Amino acid sequence: MAHLTLGIETSCDETAAAVLEDGRQIRSSVVASQDLLHAPYGGVVPELASRRHLEALWPVVREALTRARVSLGDLDGIAATAGPGLIGSLLVGLCFGKALAFARNIPLVGVNHLEGHLYAALLDREDLSFPFTGLVASGGHTHLYQATAPGQYRLLGRTLDDAAGEAFDKVAKYLSLGYPGGPRIEEWARKGDPNVVRFPRPVPSRGPYDFSFSGLKTAVVNYVKQSAVSSQQSESSSLQPSASSLQPVLDPDLVADICAGFQEAVVDVLVRVSLTAAKASASRRLVLAGGVACNGRLRSQLAHRAAEEGIQVYCPNPSLCTDNAAMIAAAGYPRLLRGERALLSLNADADLALGLT
Ligand code: KG4
Ligand code: ZN
Repeated sequence: MAHLTLGIETSCDETAAAVLEDGRQIRSSVVASQDLLHAPYGGVVPELASRRHLEALWPVVREALTRARVSLGDLDGIAATAGPGLIGSLLVGLCFGKALAFARNIPLVGVNHLEGHLYAALLDREDLSFPFTGLVASGGHTHLYQATAPGQYRLLGRTLDDAAGEAFDKVAKYLSLGYPGGPRIEEWARKGDPNVVRFPRPVPSRGPYDFSFSGLKTAVVNYVKQSAVSSQQSESSSLQPSASSLQPVLDPDLVADICAGFQEAVVDVLVRVSLTAAKASASRRLVLAGGVACNGRLRSQLAHRAAEEGIQVYCPNPSLCTDNAAMIAAAGYPRLLRGERALLSLNADADLALGLT
């Protein structure tokens, strides 16, 4: 008999549920995005996010069950994200999971969201197995791990300030390109030349596998301020950065070049640091996960430079890179199978760490 796992994910601004068969086959994966809700603010508003999760979660779970052609009674286990993330958002999904597990008398496990992102690669690629080096680059995290075995992770390095996705979102907000920033910047960058503006590639001194993106974001802001022409000289099609009351106005071609230059700097750093870590490990396998892993330039640059170094790269399908519940079910499945059971006292933890440091 197949094992059916219900995955629940509400750590940030996506309400998601999925049904997974035997930890591998995605029977359904439903994601209700809150992008439109948060777009006017240029970032996630935590209180709005948790309220929307409350409204959306049951319909999303019901839709996942319907698409998988199963009922609640068919489920063998539930895996719900327990952290890290926004505490109000996390509590909605975890409490829902606990209530469902209690009411139906089925086992529940709490899953670390970052482990979920790594499992997206295992779900997507049957040829991937432990051990591997894994980079999770998302809106909240830029964390590099050595994944030794299921449940065993060592943190190699992390961002000391902004996450990579956060830098994309902040630069896009400054340039008034919309939210979420990553896809917008990538779109603009396609029309630009990455060699016109060369932004710094910050190298933190703390450790070889750490990252820093806030200086890069400041460099973009400073460059925009210096190069912007006054609004009186501007054409009506020009774009206006949002953060300044003086409103420097930019030529769209320059915006495209800035986006390309900024993206190139982020990609360069992520590729260099993660490849250095993968080369130092015996497995020579590198997983790239999290929302930023959707970036086409990052994927192609990593594939190209990894091939030169003899490193095998595993990058999940973009639909599995951004937040989803299939990856949460995949990470929870081996633990459910081992008989692990979360107590009903399990609490959400906004800062839940993954593995050893
Ligand atoms: O993993 P995710 O869906 O949520 C978090 O756990 O944070 O990642 C969302 C982040 C956002 O910051 C978004 O701007 C970024 O991933 N992102 C991208 C792209 N698509 C999404 N960043 C760069 N290029 C993209 N194409
Ligand atoms: Zn995420």
